[in-house]
Amino acid sequence: MGENDLAATICTMMQAGKGVLAMDESTPTCNKRFAALGIPLTVDARRAWRELILTTPGLGEFISGAILYDETIRQSKNDGTSFVKLLTDAGIIPGIKVDAGAKDLSGHRGEKITEGLDGLRERLLEYRQMGARFAKWRAVITIGQGIPTIGCLEANANALARYAALCQETGLVPIVEPEVLMDGDHTLEECACVTEAALHAVFGQLYRQRVVFEKMILKPNMVLPGKNCPTQAGVEEVADATVSCLLRAVPGAVPGVAFLSGGQEAELASARLNAMNVRWRTRMPWVLTFSYSRAIQQPALDAWKGEQANQAFAQKALYHRARCCSMARRGEYSSEMEKT
Ligand code: 13P
Repeated sequence: MGENDLAATICTMMQAGKGVLAMDESTPTCNKRFAALGIPLTVDARRAWRELILTTPGLGEFISGAILYDETIRQSKNDGTSFVKLLTDAGIIPGIKVDAGAKDLSGHRGEKITEGLDGLRERLLEYRQMGARFAKWRAVITIGQGIPTIGCLEANANALARYAALCQETGLVPIVEPEVLMDGDHTLEECACVTEAALHAVFGQLYRQRVVFEKMILKPNMVLPGKNCPTQAGVEEVADATVSCLLRAVPGAVPGVAFLSGGQEAELASARLNAMNVRWRTRMPWVLTFSYSRAIQQPALDAWKGEQANQAFAQKALYHRARCCSMARRGEYSSEMEKT
């Protein structure tokens, strides 16, 4: 597996007007979203939901890559066509979430460490054989009283770096996702400070583990005030704080940055990405796009509610959000688009 293949995958994923659709919710996370809408918590309902997403007409106009979960990459459409083939036929590159989830970090109350390194090389090889061309690993950083600690930042950065090195060895593009959560009442400035520290820790470890910066994609959070912070921020303020933070901590050799949405309202996730691409376009060394799950899927899931009769309506909602994100990736989104 040559390095050029990784470069070609990244080029396709980061192409103009496109971004990544995260549909890699673990079974417990998917079930949580289903339970809130009274959808049955079954393998079949999860398969039907993923089929609805992947058969949305025109999805490939806006989506260049889709992140799948272990259960999903092994599933097929009703007629037997595998999800991997459906994606590939639509010009969308299949990817796979490979971490085993965030667990309590021993000795660090309120903090998490992402597990999944044991046996990872073999799992990556299997996923590559199944058609995946990129992978994702998510670390979770919580802001609170006295946290995050250096111990938590360093442990998670080290795991991300070891994962990324194994991906590059195996011929998969690593998406490196250190997520600073929106939960809490912290300010925008506190989020900026923690995000910058987390990114410095991550890039220090990536360097030490000999990860090639040119052959990876970063998936960060936007810099936002906590959900319960009394002072919320405007779209342009978020855009400026986020890009300023990235410019301080993300090497210019990294080709692409694709944001997670992290529980932001779908329209805000589009507006904020758009503002970054409008205001900072000439000063950014990387492509800035999206790798959203909830900010693309949630309105469609709310429309579907597990009912076959709502399928077309849900696909329309999914197509609309993907289109809005695509326009934001180009810096051509406007709230007017939400009225169509
Ligand atoms: P959200 O966009 O819902 O934050 O999900 C992105 C993701 O992949 C989380 O790991």
